[in-house]
Amino acid sequence: MQKVLVTGGCGYIGSHTIVDLINNGFVPISIDNLSNSDEKALEGIQKITGKQIRNYQIDLCDFEKTREVFEENPGIVGIIQFAALKSVEESVFQPLRYFHNNLESLLNVLACAAEFGVPNFIFSSSCSVYGNTTELPVTESTPFQEAECPYARTKQMGEKIIEDFAKVTKDFRAISLRYFNPAGAHESALIGESPRTKASNLVPVITETAIGKRPNMTVFGSDYDTRDGSCVRDYIHVMDLAAAHTACLRYLMGGKNAFPSEIFNVGIGDGVTVLEAIYAFEKVTGQKLNYIMGPRRAGDVVSIYANRDKAERLLGWKPVRGIEEIMRSAWAWQMKNA
Ligand code: NAD
Ligand code: WQD
Repeated sequence: MQKVLVTGGCGYIGSHTIVDLINNGFVPISIDNLSNSDEKALEGIQKITGKQIRNYQIDLCDFEKTREVFEENPGIVGIIQFAALKSVEESVFQPLRYFHNNLESLLNVLACAAEFGVPNFIFSSSCSVYGNTTELPVTESTPFQEAECPYARTKQMGEKIIEDFAKVTKDFRAISLRYFNPAGAHESALIGESPRTKASNLVPVITETAIGKRPNMTVFGSDYDTRDGSCVRDYIHVMDLAAAHTACLRYLMGGKNAFPSEIFNVGIGDGVTVLEAIYAFEKVTGQKLNYIMGPRRAGDVVSIYANRDKAERLLGWKPVRGIEEIMRSAWAWQMKNA
């Protein structure tokens, strides 16, 4: 029985990863304080996999309570640290809350990993660590630019904390995964993205507009120097992203890592414009989307997409779904939850 502790297991990416872990024979345990999620995700997981997942409703900033979970669950083989606050905009206005939550939770979990001898650790990082880079596609060695917001800074700092910690901690190895733009839902539409806060990411905005929750949506910018004037991003299907975590666990457990801590980009490796994403949605769903062309959104980079060769070469991971599958599954999830 290979127990894996998934922090933030009731959240969007955590819940999808739990499904993939179960399908690969692991036994996930979740810690999630439900600050941005709901235990309903666990019901969806049970319907999909037939397995009941235990969630400890604990704030990871509470060291003693976090420690008790490790005490209660000896023999955890790996930790996946999803738990974090993730709103770029909110982080600008509440920087201390973001530093406190995202870093203190990480420090506490690392301290428990050391005390209880948990050897493998995977951290949810983000392409936002690259800042406003002009190097495209970005590779893992593309240097960090100045963080555009406190949220992105928590990811830059998180990666460095893990690197320093792994260097000096015996029998401990870690991977930071830099996600690009996660989107879509499990094909069953039993789990998907359902944050407590208002959606602002492109794909949920599209599906909420199509279902009538919003009268229309705005394409932020039509005069960028791109093939159709709108911004370019790398949209990665959440189930492909989930599979990357399982691949990392196997890689670390097999001792295949060359360094105590490593970094991998997790994207599709290709850029899609906002308008192309909208057309893909219209094509696969047959829905006409009510969108207007608007001004640029402050803080947006023009283009960013991943070079994902390292993940394919070392982890044997590559995505198998594209923007159309993202739109199809996101729409199925939206319709089920309308
Ligand atoms: P999410 O908000 O759906 O999931 C995060 C979960 O962590 C939530 O369920 C929340 O309740 C929980 N949580 C937060 N702080 C906690 C704490 N102190 N103690 C216990 N639980 C806590 O977000 P997500 O989209 O699933 O993102 C998962 C991770 O991936 C985050 O670290 C995020 O920063 C990172 N990431 C997300 C994206 C994205 O676009 N979704 C992109 C890049 C990186
Ligand atoms: C995608 C594109 C918008 C909404 C964010 C975080 C990043 C990472 C992923 C966590 C952009 C355009 C959007 C709308 C639009 N998260 N858009 N109309 O900004 O690339 O990345 O999520 O780590 O850190 O910053 O994602 O989905 O908000 O935007 O035209 O109503 O869609 O301008 O070009 P973003 P997004």
